Amino acid sequence: MSEKEQEIVVKIKRFSQDKGNYWQEYKVNVDRFTQMTEVLRRIKTEQDPSLSYRASCHMAVCGSCGMKINGEPRLACKTLALDIVKKYNSNVITLEPMDYFQPIKDLVVDLDDFYDRMFKVKPRLYPDKEVLEGKAEQRLKPEDQRELWKFEQCIWCGLCVSGCPSVRNDPEFLGPAAHAKGYRFLADPRDTIYEERLKILIDSSWRCTYCYQCFNVCPRDVEPVTTIKKTRAHTRFLKDRSAVAEIGEKHIEAIEESIKDSGMIKEAEVYLKTYGVIASLTDLIYAFQNGKLKYAFVKEMKVKNMDQIRKIMGD
Ligand code: SF4
Ligand code: SF4
Ligand code: FES
Repeated sequence: MSEKEQEIVVKIKRFSQDKGNYWQEYKVNVDRFTQMTEVLRRIKTEQDPSLSYRASCHMAVCGSCGMKINGEPRLACKTLALDIVKKYNSNVITLEPMDYFQPIKDLVVDLDDFYDRMFKVKPRLYPDKEVLEGKAEQRLKPEDQRELWKFEQCIWCGLCVSGCPSVRNDPEFLGPAAHAKGYRFLADPRDTIYEERLKILIDSSWRCTYCYQCFNVCPRDVEPVTTIKKTRAHTRFLKDRSAVAEIGEKHIEAIEESIKDSGMIKEAEVYLKTYGVIASLTDLIYAFQNGKLKYAFVKEMKVKNMDQIRKIMGD
């Protein structure tokens, strides 16, 4: 071991059909350039050929090396071993397969569910017939390209989906990556299936809980949650809206009215306007039974400078 090298202990959560889940430890010498994919390569080639993991490009482009490193969803190739040692002040690093997806073997998970979600949003451009036939050219303006650029950077790694609570709890929700991809084409002026995309995306967009986990974990800064917000803004262009989308729209309108009126979000009022009297009363009884009614009657402070707030709100 050279002076600049350090020994780390890698604890890997392994899985096989016959053994189920079990942990295994390996020791590897690393220096400041050693990526976690290189750590795995050394373990597999020098210590244990039975270990399975996915990696291809080793440069954060192919999206195949997603896993949990010390509990955080990360790309192994974009993670330096000694950065993790420094961050956690420990030379023990744990590797686990991504959450949510079923493991197939060790760190390799079944991504069929991820691809199903992605293909539901028709992840390609549908240009004009004339463009397809080579009879016309359709250029993208720089301002349109600027809007799309960030959302084009998705590498289909699945990390955002693995960390998204709404994906687990709501079977109707498409998931953050599919929304990022869907919006990327919804906002593309060259695309010809806008109405169809609205039908696919709008209801699902109102099922995100805005927890920002996808924003935090994405290794390409795609910001899937931003695309969900932007998609919601298209709700008014959809004719037949689902109940979820209707309630979402009402909620936004009630919040806007409340701010214009009082300079704050009056939660009780917003709730009533969004869900109506019967649902609000039912929820009030539920809150009372669970000792949470006090939160519905929090004393509100008066907001000063209402004229400035109305100006910001465009009145
Ligand atoms: S912000 Fe929405 S899409 Fe992103 S992880 Fe949270 S619930 Fe999922
Ligand atoms: S949005 Fe980010 S985290 Fe999600 S699949 Fe694409 S690159 Fe991965
Ligand atoms: S190996 Fe390609 S993204 Fe990590």
